[in-house]
Amino acid sequence: MTTLPRPILDLKGLRPETRLVHGGILRSQFGENAEALYLTQSYVYDSAEQCERRFKGEEEGFIYSRYSNPTIAMFEGRMCALEGAESARATATGMAAVTASLLCQLKAGDHVVAAKALFGSCRYVVEELLPRFGIAVDLIEGTDLDAWKKAVRKETKAFFLESPTNPTLEILDIAGIAKIAKQAGACFIVDNVFATPMLQSPLELGADIVVYSATKHIDGQGRCLGGVILSSKQFVTDHLQTFLRQTGPSISPFNAWVLLKGIETLPLRVEKAQSNAAKLADFLATNKQIKKVIYPFRKDHPQYELAKKQMKGGGTMLAFEIDGGKDAAFRFENAVQLIRISNNLGDAKSLITHPATTTHQRFTPEARTGMGISDGLLRISVGLEHTDDLIEDLQRGLKAI
Ligand SMILES: Cc1ncc(COP(=O)(O)O)c(C=O)c1O
Repeated sequence: MTTLPRPILDLKGLRPETRLVHGGILRSQFGENAEALYLTQSYVYDSAEQCERRFKGEEEGFIYSRYSNPTIAMFEGRMCALEGAESARATATGMAAVTASLLCQLKAGDHVVAAKALFGSCRYVVEELLPRFGIAVDLIEGTDLDAWKKAVRKETKAFFLESPTNPTLEILDIAGIAKIAKQAGACFIVDNVFATPMLQSPLELGADIVVYSATKHIDGQGRCLGGVILSSKQFVTDHLQTFLRQTGPSISPFNAWVLLKGIETLPLRVEKAQSNAAKLADFLATNKQIKKVIYPFRKDHPQYELAKKQMKGGGTMLAFEIDGGKDAAFRFENAVQLIRISNNLGDAKSLITHPATTTHQRFTPEARTGMGISDGLLRISVGLEHTDDLIEDLQRGLKAI
């Protein structure tokens, strides 16, 4: 395994906001303040002997940017500092992170248990891709702890879930499921995209691996794709490093640099977007045309107590169901002007999605119903605009229903 130069600061004991401004910096001989962007595919060596030592892992340093690059290492180091993880590996997208976290450790004959309420592509990976390689999968009701217990077999190697779920914002009991995973000897992977690293720490709750689409809040400004896998050093050594090195789902150093700088403002952005989201949820809940508002920190959320226990805030996402199905939902989407129609999330700009015709469109109506996705459901990723402007925009949508 390639060993990399160590970051220059020991950040133990410092708070998250400080760690994510200073974490992971590898400063060059030029003493730059802002982190450098190293656009290089490969590296040169002083001698053949040094090159041999690098390849043998006897000397720290970079070899080839498919699996090691100083800018990418800074992004990984900063994510570790933020999440309290021993190791991190960045990938080209969130889906590359999800796929690698599973495939790197599984083989034919293994079994995976996953919650059925998943982002569409994550569900494709567990439900369709893994079985093609002889890996059995059970999709269960993630909020039901007994269902996790019952699904365990002696071949069970991994548990996979997201919480809050996309798009229905169900809250799954990460600490409770972690105990079941431990007893089963299964590796517990949590997709923490909706919560963000600021509001939920799955490793502290007992998960073994956390994955992110860094495309979302970590960039937060809609510029580039990226993903990251956080785990123990052991997992990287035993499984991940070789898989990433040999299969190559690598992030570009440029994207890693954008994400590295994006993280510096993550707490400020999440705080503002979350405060907007809570206010928008309360506003929508007062309207009679809205059948249901889903926001984890509202008392009417079915897992409100659990959300309060495992999250530091209700998050930047909300969902709501409109009376009148798809037609009414489309009229709402077409009437809002500030909140743009987009399937992305975690952006400075507020974005609205109709999951039944976009992210979850390829599922049958029955499967969507099973995931709680009705034709009248809309999801908003709340951004950084002024709250009153957003509420005025929602009023435009409500008038059009
Ligand atoms: C929960 C969740 N996981 C993973 C992904 C995939 O991320 P990416 O688009 O960066 O591949 C998304 C994207 O929307 C998501 O919402």
